[in-house]
Amino acid sequence: MLSTYLLLIVILFILLTSLIPQYVLSWQLEFRKKNLEMSCREIGQEIDYYLHNYDAALYSTYFDNVTQQYSKSIDSRIMIYDKFGRILSDSNNQFKFRNINLEEINSSLDGNVYWNEYYFNDIGNVMYISVPVKYENEVNGGIFISNSINDLYGNLEDINNTIRMIVLIEGILIIIGIILISNHFLRPINKFYPVISKLSNGEFGDKVDVKSNDEFKVLANSFNSMSVKLNEVELQRKEFVGNVSHELKTPLSSIKLLSESLLLQDEVEEDVYREFLMDINNEVDRLNRIVTELLALVDMDKKQLVLDYQPAYLNYLIEKIIEQLKPLADQKHIRLNFFEDDSIQINIDKGKIKQALINIVHNAIKYTRDGGKVDIRVYREKDFAIVSIKDTGVGISEDNLQYIFDRFYRADKARSRNTGGTGLGLSISKQIVNLHHGTISVRSKLDEGTEFYISLPIV
Ligand SMILES: Nc1ncnc2c1ncn2[C@@H]1O[C@H](COP(=O)(O)OP(=O)(O)O)[C@@H](O)[C@H]1O
Ligand SMILES: [Mg+2]
Repeated sequence: MLSTYLLLIVILFILLTSLIPQYVLSWQLEFRKKNLEMSCREIGQEIDYYLHNYDAALYSTYFDNVTQQYSKSIDSRIMIYDKFGRILSDSNNQFKFRNINLEEINSSLDGNVYWNEYYFNDIGNVMYISVPVKYENEVNGGIFISNSINDLYGNLEDINNTIRMIVLIEGILIIIGIILISNHFLRPINKFYPVISKLSNGEFGDKVDVKSNDEFKVLANSFNSMSVKLNEVELQRKEFVGNVSHELKTPLSSIKLLSESLLLQDEVEEDVYREFLMDINNEVDRLNRIVTELLALVDMDKKQLVLDYQPAYLNYLIEKIIEQLKPLADQKHIRLNFFEDDSIQINIDKGKIKQALINIVHNAIKYTRDGGKVDIRVYREKDFAIVSIKDTGVGISEDNLQYIFDRFYRADKARSRNTGGTGLGLSISKQIVNLHHGTISVRSKLDEGTEFYISLPIV
């Protein structure tokens, strides 16, 4: 960035120092020429009649007076010449009555103004100008002025020096400014490097401390919350992998233990074989459940997951679920009641919502003692369909309540394991409801019962 600006400054410097003085000089030369031309015309007006009727004996002194006088007032050499280019008067008294063959004088006899700039080693820069003098439209001669323009070139030097000075000071100020500005920008940026390199090494959670109160602060804030979020995700990932390994390891160890104890015994009775194999079979079922549910979760984690939305009657869907789970409830003498306050048609992925509701109703039956009841209610609240599932079961303690939607979380490990729970059901349900832009909430009291609310947007 700095080098680009420096290059720009150098280019600007060259442009300014070369163009501006050049322009100022040509403007001043033009101005000087106009002034000299005006003086010529003034003199011309004084002498045009006498030049027309020129008589050396009569007018020579008069012409000399005129050239002397103007020469003093405009500080120039002035000559008057006739229509043959012969000098009639020279303020320097050098060329009187001679023909000096000056280009400007000769050319002016065609009636136009001629001027030029010369440089002489001894006197420097000089401007020559010749203006014809007419009388009744006839060129009778002209006025020649030679004027030193050293002052203009002197000005030029001054201007150049001033510009150089200005550009130099400006350049220094700009460079200082650039250094200050880039410092201002680089300091906060430099604070990001160590944290970013930690992030790329897998160390999440570090924060950038930016003191300023500008865009960098905003950037740092969102960077920090990203870092914290990454850390959380990383912790969850580690915990999840730990949980999965543990959950898979437990049934595997049981299977290993059961099969080994069978293999190591010489003679085993058929009953024992049967019992052990049944246990092994149960553990395999459990492994299968865990893997199936994990796959369902992984499937829903996919960003590009597309739901198969279809219009469905929520009431009908719940009736189906009740039908499916009734044998289980009957086994435990649990009454399954369905209250249909509204009949609700809704756009959902039927298969997924059914799975979500089954998990919750299944839990309600599972975690309710024999002879209890489960009430399922469906109703509409504004633009939302609400399904509530209320049981008279064991309830969930306040400490546990906040974790029940977490993967592999089980409030009562022993009981849950006996009932075949994996701790994945509720997290799957929550995931499905969230995918439908709905919410799921729970209220519970230990030993009294639990109530789940699923709310799904109807439109
Ligand atoms: N209706 C309920 N009554 C009491 N506890 C429940 C109920 N539903 C869920 N829970 C608790 O929440 C935990 C997580 O539920 P879930 O994810 O379905 O796993 P699980 O496979 O154990 O059923 C359960 O282990 C249980 O402790
Ligand atoms: Mg469950």
